[in-house]
Amino acid sequence: MRRIALINQKGGVGKTTITTNLGHALALAGHRVSVIDLDPQGQLAANYGIFRAPSKGIDQVILNGADPATVRLGIRDMLTLIPAGARLQEVEYRQDGGASRARLLLHALEGAMTDQAFVLFDCPPSSGLLVANAIFAADEAFIPVSGDHMSLNGLAKMLKTLKRFEPYLDRPVRQWIGLNRYFPRRRLAREVQGKLRQHFPEQLLSIPIREAAAIAECPGVGRTIFEYKPSSRSAKEFMLLAEELLERSPESAACRP
Ligand SMILES: Nc1ncnc2c1ncn2[C@@H]1O[C@H](COP(=O)(O)OP(=O)(O)OP(=O)(O)O)[C@@H](O)[C@H]1O
Ligand SMILES: [Mg+2]
Repeated sequence: MRRIALINQKGGVGKTTITTNLGHALALAGHRVSVIDLDPQGQLAANYGIFRAPSKGIDQVILNGADPATVRLGIRDMLTLIPAGARLQEVEYRQDGGASRARLLLHALEGAMTDQAFVLFDCPPSSGLLVANAIFAADEAFIPVSGDHMSLNGLAKMLKTLKRFEPYLDRPVRQWIGLNRYFPRRRLAREVQGKLRQHFPEQLLSIPIREAAAIAECPGVGRTIFEYKPSSRSAKEFMLLAEELLERSPESAACRP
C-alpha cells in the first residue's frame, strides 16, 4: 500500500483538486484507492458530488479510535472516501498526549485498509497537528506547486517543515513535487519549471497540470475531470500523472540530504 499526503502550507495550490482527480485516475487504472479528507473545510466530499457529507468521518477515527471501515463511503468503482467529519478541527487544538498527538492517525490506520493500493490524504493549508498526523501516517509527500515565485517560497517552507520531522520518523519522507495551474506560454511559469528541474530533478514529476477552466468547473458539479470532460487535455494530464506515479518507485524520490 502506498500512502501519499498532499501537502502544502500555501492555500489554493491544488491539494484537493489533485487528490480528487489523481484518486479517480488511479482507480480508473484498476487500483483500489481510498481518499481521506484531513481538511476541516471538508471540500473533498463535495468534489465527488457529496454536498452533504456525513458528520462522522476521519475525525472519529482520530479522536475516538473508530474503525476506518465504519466511516468509509464507496463513491466510485474502486474508490472510497473518508470524509472530514464535523469534529476534525478539534484535532488541531488537542493539548493532551504530547508528541504522540502527531501519531494518532498513524496508529489508527495500523493494520487498517490493507486492501487498498493507495491511500491519499488531502491536507489543510497549515502546518499544524493535522498535517503532522498526515506526515507520520504517509510514506510519500506530494507537494503541489503553482508556477510563480511565491510558490517557490512556499515550497522551500514546506521542505523545511518536512525536514523538521525527519529525526522523528523511522523512514525518509519521500517527496514528489507536482506543477499545477501551469501556463506553458507564460515565461515565468517556464522559469519556475526550469528551477524545479534543476534543484529537484528526482522529485519533480514531469507532467504539469495546466490551468484549465474545466478543472475549476468540476467542484461546482461534483464530478471529477474524468466524468465532466473525459476527453479534455486535463483528463489526459491527470491520467499521465497517475501513470508516472505508478511507474516511479517511491525510493527514487527519497529525501535529498
Ligand atoms: N489546474 C487548475 N486549473 C484551474 N483551476 C484550478 C486548477 N487547480 C486548482 N484549481 C482551482 O483552484 C482552486 C484551489 O484549488 P484547491 O482547492 O484544489 O487548492 P488547495 O491547495 O486544496 O486549497 P486549500 O489550501 O484551500 O485547501 C479551486 O477552485 C480549484 O478548482
Ligand atoms: Mg484543499
